[in-house]
Amino acid sequence: EKGGHDYFMLKEIAEQPKAVADTLLGRIDGAGRLHLDEVRITPRELREVDKVVIVACGTAFHAGMIAKYAIEHWTRIPCETELASEFRYRDPILDHRTLVVAISQSGETMDTLMALRHAREQGAKVLAICNTNGSTIPRESDAVLYTHAGPEVAVASTKAFLTQLVACYLVALYLGQICGTKWGDEIRTVIRQLSEISGAVERVLATMEPVRALARSLADHDTVLFLGRHVGYPVALEGALKLKELAYMHAEGFAAGELKHGPIALIEDDLPVVVVVPSPRGRSVLHDKIVSNIQEIRARGARTIVIAEEGDEAVVPYADHLIRIPVTPTLLQPLVSTVPLQVFACELATARGNDVDQPRNLAKSVTVE
Ligand code: M6R
Repeated sequence: EKGGHDYFMLKEIAEQPKAVADTLLGRIDGAGRLHLDEVRITPRELREVDKVVIVACGTAFHAGMIAKYAIEHWTRIPCETELASEFRYRDPILDHRTLVVAISQSGETMDTLMALRHAREQGAKVLAICNTNGSTIPRESDAVLYTHAGPEVAVASTKAFLTQLVACYLVALYLGQICGTKWGDEIRTVIRQLSEISGAVERVLATMEPVRALARSLADHDTVLFLGRHVGYPVALEGALKLKELAYMHAEGFAAGELKHGPIALIEDDLPVVVVVPSPRGRSVLHDKIVSNIQEIRARGARTIVIAEEGDEAVVPYADHLIRIPVTPTLLQPLVSTVPLQVFACELATARGNDVDQPRNLAKSVTVE
């Protein structure tokens, strides 16, 4: 049942190219247009949306953070992403023009369910992004876009996360397509690039042996920090969450721009810091800033573990360890940059003797508030 792997988590990491492809299947036509016919909120209703609010917990929340960048860029509709457990208790401002997107692998997470109930009571429309057919969250939503990751058994979410990202991109691009934005050409290009992205995930998986060796060499460390900017920031948070839950290590993710506002004080000799580097093409200002951040932490003794695009030579002098990922459009990069972090956490946890499928104190689905 583990398909020849020692752990479900390893099997699920390996299944990611297929999970991504399956989630795209049938949703992009030959002409490169999206058809999300299952989303039973009419194009007219969607054109009225003036605010998107995403609610989720844990890893699904990180997918929602990335969705915010994509939705605001491609639709110009304001978008907030909020932890479901915080959302309901601050009396959020919602009405019939608000689209609430609830993201959940299990469809049973109580905090997310309570957030969507609250949103519907206020008159908002709720779209669920969910991996479990017929579970409570999609049943109680106005519409659902299912992710097709297949059953996820390991407590740590991997393939569900990648498919949540795909679903979020689909929603963002679909809204952009329906509402019509100045990014029409870019949207068409990205839809095509998204339809080919599973091959890139496959290529990352084929190059993970050095990442595993690096992870094993760090098994005696106490702390690992993760830095990112833009969509790399939620990826850094996700890398840290994976390491906490599996390896029981102190792991923290930061927005690289925040370093000077506090976290840089944590840097000491030989502290491993993973840095997710945005593409040097596109928004090159982000890239240049993060290269400076890498120099700053390295000058203070950090051991830099740099995740950067193939062909990005600017990072080479400052990377103690360099992990290459395929070239992707800026907003889609999390689909490839997250994978090494999953492998890293899984291998490090195994090296520390932990059961990666059943981490201590955690349940696969959290059905209490
Ligand atoms: O089933 P859900 O997607 O609603 O679950 C949300 C979180 O509990 C979940 O992502 C959790 O953070 C994972 N263990 C992370 O790997």
